[in-house]
Amino acid sequence: MFLRLAFSVSLLLSAGLNTAGAESQTVNVAPGNNGTEPLFVPAHFDASNGTSVLIYFPNVGPYHSFTQSSFDKPCTPLQDSENVTIGFDSGLTSATEWELTITNATIPIYFFSKGPNQCGQGMVGAINAPQNGTGSYDEFYAAAVKLNGTAITVPDTTPILTGVGAAATGPPRGLGERSDLQFSVEGFMPLEGYVTSF
Ligand SMILES: *[C@@H]1O[C@H](CO)[C@@H](O)[C@H](O)[C@H]1NC(C)=O
Ligand SMILES: *[C@@H]1O[C@H](CO)[C@@H](O)[C@H](O)[C@H]1NC(C)=O
Ligand SMILES: *[C@@H]1O[C@H](CO)[C@@H](O)[C@H](O)[C@H]1NC(C)=O
Ligand SMILES: *[C@@H]1O[C@H](CO)[C@@H](O)[C@H](O)[C@H]1NC(C)=O
Ligand SMILES: *[C@@H]1O[C@H](CO)[C@@H](O)[C@H](O)[C@H]1NC(C)=O
Ligand SMILES: *[C@@H]1O[C@H](CO)[C@@H](O)[C@H](O)[C@H]1NC(C)=O
Repeated sequence: MFLRLAFSVSLLLSAGLNTAGAESQTVNVAPGNNGTEPLFVPAHFDASNGTSVLIYFPNVGPYHSFTQSSFDKPCTPLQDSENVTIGFDSGLTSATEWELTITNATIPIYFFSKGPNQCGQGMVGAINAPQNGTGSYDEFYAAAVKLNGTAITVPDTTPILTGVGAAATGPPRGLGERSDLQFSVEGFMPLEGYVTSF
């Protein structure tokens, strides 16, 4: 169950959306819900090469992951043609933060959380996806929620640091003193219409 606390959502959307010629940028992502369904906030954004995507996993509530998938199989870890997993994966985690860096902004990145039933409930997202039509976040989300209740349970793994289009330099790290982030991280702004779940 989700505890709904008034947490200042980690969101620096402007950093992610307007990146022309920019230097080091950070986009903050956190699990949330819209009152009933779990989701990522923000669920989709653009991020140029070199952008840091910093994912905060809260210290209470269900475990989540940030796992790369594909447009065709929203709730399955990204695999190559030999069915070898090639996507990044934080692993199921809590009270941590994980930093990914965009390594190729021309590749759309699709991701989901592999906590039980979370993907089929819409806990998915996309980075650098087309704005509309095939490949868009909207179509990706629609494909994920079609799997609601039937998506396979993805086994947990140790973190996989290198994905396609993004990579991490290390596994998720503890929030330390900030594990009690209830949750006023400097620079974060509340996202209208959403509450985050912890
Ligand atoms: C939350 O999202 C679900 C799935 O899109 C939708 O059915 C539901 O109405 C939303 N709830 C709120 C309060 O927005
Ligand atoms: C990959 O997995 C799919 C679905 O399980 C299967 O149909 C296909 O034969 C597999 N391909 C290889 C190369 O193992
Ligand atoms: C980045 O991705 C694009 C699109 O898939 C590809 O054409 C290009 O070769 C990639 N760049 C590198 C350095 O891998
Ligand atoms: C991002 O970097 C990759 C790898 O170096 C390169 O192939 C691609 O063209 C770059 N994309 C943009 C939009 O700069
Ligand atoms: C997923 O299924 C559950 C259980 O039937 C339901 O409560 C929920 O609204 C569904 N979510 C979506 C996004 O369809
Ligand atoms: C789809 O997105 C493109 C930009 O990616 C835009 O030019 C076009 O107007 C959009 N079409 C619709 C129907 O929104």
